[in-house]
Amino acid sequence: MNYEVNEGGQLMIGGVSAKNLADHYGTPLYVYDVGQIRSNARAFIETFKKHNVPAQVAYASKAFSSIAMLQVAHQEGLSLDVVSRGELHTALEAGFPVEKIHMHGNNKSISELEMAVKHHIGCIVVDNFYEIELLDAILEERTSEIDVLLRVTPGIEAHTHDYILTGQEDSKFGFDLSSGQAEEAFLKVLDHPRIKMKGLHCHIGSQIFETSGFEMATRKLFSTLEDWRDRFDFTAEVVNLGGGFGIQYTKEDDPLDLDQYAHALIKEIKTLSEQSNYPLPEIWIEPGRAIVGEAGVTLYTVGSIKEIPGVRTYISVDGGMTDNIRPALYQARYEAVLADKVNDPKEKKYSVAGKCCESGDMLIWDVELPKVEHEDLLAVFSTGAYGYAMANNYNRFQKAAVVFVENGHHQLVVRRETFQEMTRHDLSYEQQRGETK
Ligand code: LLP
Repeated sequence: MNYEVNEGGQLMIGGVSAKNLADHYGTPLYVYDVGQIRSNARAFIETFKKHNVPAQVAYASKAFSSIAMLQVAHQEGLSLDVVSRGELHTALEAGFPVEKIHMHGNNKSISELEMAVKHHIGCIVVDNFYEIELLDAILEERTSEIDVLLRVTPGIEAHTHDYILTGQEDSKFGFDLSSGQAEEAFLKVLDHPRIKMKGLHCHIGSQIFETSGFEMATRKLFSTLEDWRDRFDFTAEVVNLGGGFGIQYTKEDDPLDLDQYAHALIKEIKTLSEQSNYPLPEIWIEPGRAIVGEAGVTLYTVGSIKEIPGVRTYISVDGGMTDNIRPALYQARYEAVLADKVNDPKEKKYSVAGKCCESGDMLIWDVELPKVEHEDLLAVFSTGAYGYAMANNYNRFQKAAVVFVENGHHQLVVRRETFQEMTRHDLSYEQQRGETK
């Protein structure tokens, strides 16, 4: 894990000490090193440029969506992937150019599709037959057009946690390639006067460390496209290979090397395109985790400490599965340091518990730390993706604040939730007196 430490043994994030941030904003606190978000985005864009392949890198905003984040994504030249009205609304509020927004989802509602069409977003990734019917009706009424990609499941199993596998055939997402479903959907769209078929999309999973799954998926998509060109005279302008690039949560994770990925993928794409004389389509990818994951750190204050002699020592922090549900949901593993004692000698292994009423609310089972005392500041690394995005109000804990740090400057970008905000949707119960109103 790479992190900066000053001479006083204080963890530094984007040129500011974690201690200062915690003192200023309180804990738990999500902190993003914006410089790292920018360099992650640039690395993707530059890699494709270097290999001279026309590409679009869309940020999968499900990983972490907020107005400030989407503004940074736009500044860095990323496109955007949204999956709901809420994510689209956030993008519009952030002033994200609509033509660079793509919409996903396996059960897009009529209101989501209407919103996408009304705002003329760049592309809808069509997932199922019902969605084609809904789009057909919406476009008929509005007499407008929309570009689409068809999401297909190429039958590739990426090496990852079962819950986040989406590319295999038995999946709720997309059209199955092998049974002819994808072809049926393609033919429905192909001659449609207002639904404009641009190409294919697949997403084979998340937190993937190997390039082979992406290469296999590319071959599958190209062989389908070649077949459709020969039989239906259709040439795809776009092939979208989804997201899923693995990042480093702990020392054991060997993150996907971007250059190696791009090299292998581009070689594959160029060979396929040359072999079958297929004009090189634009390659789209949609990384979420790899843009923001390692750029995020969560700061917590240690409260109670419970030692079970000879067994383990629990340290409880002022957050938990409400700000990071990934350990409880996926047995995800993280690394942490004591932010104000980074260089102190390690004492022993501790287990970091959250404060929710749930035994499964553990953030880290075993992490080596210096001697931990009450009020110490704990920094958990690589929490930038699917942390705030999956935050919840279990036990009515407030959602934590989010701070951006860059070049020694820090700024609040999401306020800490207030109790008034938490109860704002609650209505008092007016007792009925035997009558129904
Ligand atoms: N594109 C599509 C169509 C997706 O379904 C996803 C993630 C992405 C892109 C972005 O994938 P990424 O590059 O972030 O791996 N909550 C889980 C992850 C669920 C991912 C769902 N789809 C987690 O915390 O690990």
